[in-house]
Amino acid sequence: MARDWTARSWRDKPIQQVPTYPDPRRVTAVEDELAALPPLVFAGEARRLRASLAQVAKGKAFLLQGGDCAESFEEFSANTIRDTFRVILQMAVVMTYGAACPVVKVGRMAGQFAKPRSAPMEEIDGVSLPSYRGDMVNGMEFQAATRTPDPERLLRVYHQSAATLNLLRAFAQGGYADLFQMHRWTLDFVKGSPQAERYEDMANRITEALGFMEACGLNGESVSQLRETEFYTSHEALLLNYEEALTREDSTRPGEFYSTTAHMLWIGDRTRQLDGAHIEYMRGIRNPVGLKAGPSMTPDELLRLIEALDPNNDAGRLTVIARMGADAVEEHLPALVRATKREGRNVVWACDPMHGNTVKASSGFKTRSFDRILREVRGFFAVHQAEGTHAGGVHFEMTGRDVTECIGGAQAITEARLGDRYHTHCDPRLNAHQALELAFLISEGLKQERTLGKLAAPGLAAVS
Ligand code: TRP
Ligand code: MN
Repeated sequence: MARDWTARSWRDKPIQQVPTYPDPRRVTAVEDELAALPPLVFAGEARRLRASLAQVAKGKAFLLQGGDCAESFEEFSANTIRDTFRVILQMAVVMTYGAACPVVKVGRMAGQFAKPRSAPMEEIDGVSLPSYRGDMVNGMEFQAATRTPDPERLLRVYHQSAATLNLLRAFAQGGYADLFQMHRWTLDFVKGSPQAERYEDMANRITEALGFMEACGLNGESVSQLRETEFYTSHEALLLNYEEALTREDSTRPGEFYSTTAHMLWIGDRTRQLDGAHIEYMRGIRNPVGLKAGPSMTPDELLRLIEALDPNNDAGRLTVIARMGADAVEEHLPALVRATKREGRNVVWACDPMHGNTVKASSGFKTRSFDRILREVRGFFAVHQAEGTHAGGVHFEMTGRDVTECIGGAQAITEARLGDRYHTHCDPRLNAHQALELAFLISEGLKQERTLGKLAAPGLAAVS
């Protein structure tokens, strides 16, 4: 256990982004209730993810993290979960092929319900109400009753997360994740894409690889490895009282504490103050953790945060998720990467090309353009190529549904069409088509990294 740390030591530190509840006693009662409930994940699973991320840190695997900006009570349904899960896995197949190495799959799912906000209050037509902080805190509708933070929502998040996790586990282990089936769906996508010829070549090569495997007697029925996958969950650890209530000591390893709300947690760019409550809580848990890094992060600050969060320099413990913006990534990222390399820090570098590229369309909708998202990913790869480091992963806000929230892509969604199916509870997400397209384009980049010898292809590394 980290020195002087307890699951509640964060309470003595300055904290950002906490909701103001009208009845603090009710909050305490809910925390007590949560503390008596079973954990959502098992410590051993979080350790397995950590081991997989250690492979990413060593350049032997790639991280794919994706899901909603914010999950909601309203959009909660089996189909929504299934569709997002399916697209993440379809993306993973394409990337596994391109990188010729394992892809670690982590959903922004089953717990991603709280949002940091730039202002505590929102004003409309002279009326001022608390800002919407995600369904975990209050409701989106601009009404005094709905916007008042309600602690009962924490319990609802717990139960919705439990149900979501249950379904994800069933899909991952029960046959839905079959590699051959996933690829069949991807072939349908390619056939239906207005830019089919752009993706056909790689899709056909995957078909050939699978055909060869099948001819050798390897398929989903004969080999569980091809039928099943490991799928992990993650969210931003924003509401620390929720995390605290579900922090548990590993019964198989006394003295080791885990947040059991998800396998992986990350710290947002707004709550990463070195002496603040969020860093205090995160330094003591053993889960793999992520740290978002925006353009204001300096190399010095990053090194100090790494020292606080990962003093033993354990590969797999820390993932730095850069969210610079397409125009800023090549300016800001190199100094950060160089600093970690110089100090021999074993971090995973991941790229969040979403949060630095949000704009307001003239119609008033918040949106992001496919081209800028792709440009940031390309910039991220270029920086790592130049620095001789491993571009370890990507982090997307996406959904399996056919929404119109980001512009561009092969479907050429325009600003004028944003209103057609704009459903997000927070930031604009890539739809299923756009997400899969990006996977194809990234896969080409991974293949390039591999040919340049940066990414070690296990077994065949010496060949080609
Ligand atoms: N088990 C392997 C893996 O998870 C192969 C696999 C099975 C797979 N189903 C998958 C890979 C779906 C990606 C997507 O990597
Ligand atoms: Mn977001």
